[in-house]
Amino acid sequence: MSRSAITDAEPVVLTDPDTLPGVRPVARPDGRLRPDAAYLISGGLGALGLSLAERMVADGPTTLVLLGRSAPGEQAAGRIETLRRAGTRVETVSCDVSDADALTGALKALTLPPIHGVVHAAGILQDATIGTLTPDGLARVLAPKTAGARNLEAATADQPLDFFVLFSSAAALFGLPGQAAYAAANAYLDAFAQHRRRRGRPALSVQWGPFADIGLAAADELRGDRLAERGVGAVGVEQAWQVLDALLDGDHDVAACAPLDPRRWFDAHPDSAAQGSWRRLRALADRDTDTDTDTDTDTDTDAVGGSGRFLAALLAAEPAEQLAAARAKVRELAGRVLRLDPAAIDADRPFKALGLDSLMSLELRNRLEAAFGLRLSPTLLWAFGTTDALAAELRTRVCDAAS
Ligand SMILES: NC(=O)c1ccc[n+]([C@@H]2O[C@H](COP(=O)([O-])OP(=O)(O)OC[C@H]3O[C@@H](n4cnc5c(N)ncnc54)[C@H](OP(=O)(O)O)[C@@H]3O)[C@@H](O)[C@H]2O)c1
Repeated sequence: MSRSAITDAEPVVLTDPDTLPGVRPVARPDGRLRPDAAYLISGGLGALGLSLAERMVADGPTTLVLLGRSAPGEQAAGRIETLRRAGTRVETVSCDVSDADALTGALKALTLPPIHGVVHAAGILQDATIGTLTPDGLARVLAPKTAGARNLEAATADQPLDFFVLFSSAAALFGLPGQAAYAAANAYLDAFAQHRRRRGRPALSVQWGPFADIGLAAADELRGDRLAERGVGAVGVEQAWQVLDALLDGDHDVAACAPLDPRRWFDAHPDSAAQGSWRRLRALADRDTDTDTDTDTDTDTDAVGGSGRFLAALLAAEPAEQLAAARAKVRELAGRVLRLDPAAIDADRPFKALGLDSLMSLELRNRLEAAFGLRLSPTLLWAFGTTDALAAELRTRVCDAAS
């Protein structure tokens, strides 16, 4: 306020902002969406977007704007028709959310009631290890999330928003091999939500774990199996929307909804266990391990509990037994990563022929490091290309390190 604006008739009251109660919009007044408002979902024609759209109007019709680059497919068109028949106005918009002009143009072409909510669920998944990540590949994964979030914010800046939800991923929370670009894109959404909140605007970024039956994670069954093997469980869609309701009724800027078994996670990612940010989960995993029995075969507890039972037994064994034990361990861990019965793994069959890809090789390397107590190069598996050759090398290294 300028000095000249202060008059005797207008007393100025100074108070500590921290003593004032926060004022924030209510996401769903009366526990449901406003019938006279519009809600915009980017990625709204995708699996999660469309499912959420159906959920959003379950308590009563409103106006939905579903946005994606392509026109709705046959199945999506049928589901949209069902929503329309139930009284919801559904507008579909074909545009790239990362293109600011296209987005504002497309929204301007519609005559809408005030937009009261945004869900930014547009995104793509394109796995690549850091070594194979290209600038184009990185930009392709970043753009819909990062530029998309900024463009949606700009396009709705003058709208009376009750909520602005960003669909982030658990990849941003704990990172996953091969998902550096995807993790970065989603971490941006988390920071974006915090930045909006600091400016007094509604925002919630949800770091979803992989969805069970629908969406881009479920499209690759093997991905789900591999994540489960590493302790990352799947989220059911009904459960997810209940969580989202609760989060919207709460006061969060970033929240995760991802079932995680910490023991399995540390088993597959021993490097995480050493990081300070994982301390509390690590303590939880250690506690579970301590109360466990020695007969547990589901996880390689050496990695979690640090007991090193396998390693101690290996070093104490006779040379001939050492080799057999190392071979058995390599086959066991390779079987776990490849989702094959260890007994069915041919000792002389190259890893590549067994189906090991670069992501799996990193996971196997991590597990071998934990079991054998060694630091191993990511290329070691390819250099000693079969389970037996690798086992012999690991046994030699373990014995050298101990002598
Ligand atoms: N499914 C999961 O398990 C999971 C887990 C964690 C987080 N998430 C996040 O949840 C969101 C939805 O995932 P989903 O499983 O529903 O994937 P989906 O079925 O592939 O839907 C994503 C939608 O985004 C649209 N899209 C992509 N790039 C776009 C762009 N530049 N502009 C406009 N639309 C764009 C796609 O349509 P077009 O290709 O036609 O544009 C697609 O319909 C994603 O952001 C994803 O990262 C999903």
